[in-house]
Amino acid sequence: MKGKIFDTHAHYDDRRFDRDRKEVLEMIGREGVGLVTNIGSSMEANRAALELAEEYDFIYAAIGVHPSDTAELTEADMDWLEQNASWEKVVAIGEIGLDYHYDEPEKDWQKKWFRRQLELAAKVKLPVCIHSREAAQDTLEIMKEMHAGDIGGVIHCFSYGWDMARTYLDMGFYLGIGGVVTFKNGKKLKEVVEKAPIEQLVMETDAPYLTPEPDRGKRNDSHYLWAVAEEIGRLKGMDREEVARITWENGKRMYGIA
Ligand code: NI
Repeated sequence: MKGKIFDTHAHYDDRRFDRDRKEVLEMIGREGVGLVTNIGSSMEANRAALELAEEYDFIYAAIGVHPSDTAELTEADMDWLEQNASWEKVVAIGEIGLDYHYDEPEKDWQKKWFRRQLELAAKVKLPVCIHSREAAQDTLEIMKEMHAGDIGGVIHCFSYGWDMARTYLDMGFYLGIGGVVTFKNGKKLKEVVEKAPIEQLVMETDAPYLTPEPDRGKRNDSHYLWAVAEEIGRLKGMDREEVARITWENGKRMYGIA
């Protein structure tokens, strides 16, 4: 028995799973993955996330719009999100946030929809999945301004240093840890994992992206989280089963899954 793994952030609606989605979802179950939250990123992906959560007992959904997909967002989309957020298998609003890696959409536009979706999360009383890339200061400012500490949730694929981690941990947020922690150039994240309380860490793949070593570069899926559990365990002085068990409980608490 391998124990149970909770993948708190995956994109099984991605077209890279079109060919063998059913087989992959069966395989990860055999490999000890017991829960997955499929994260929406565009309005199209949100609909697909709901369908996956309807079809599979062990899949839950988050709905929201990724900063890079906000270009054509409207208030009608916010209404759709609000209506669908009341379904019991929708456990978070996300992924939402800021991504300054690309020039588009404009920063002010991204900020507008980030604020708007934080407001929505507060209204529907769901935690948020935060995507923040090359936008550390602006993300934190908006989250403080919007009292995100009262909303709660996870900083997904945490990529900043310990000072920023400390700030989010103090706000009650969880940090999403994935394949990057196994990378040779993942030093900064290894330090964060070492210092953060294990009770505030959750595991996530971001599948199909960010496959851990030694399989880096392949398509990611939830069963690779055993390699992430192994590395977190190495940094924390515990075995991977214990890491899986604790992060499983953390994920359920974070998403309010009974
Ligand atoms: Ni993602």
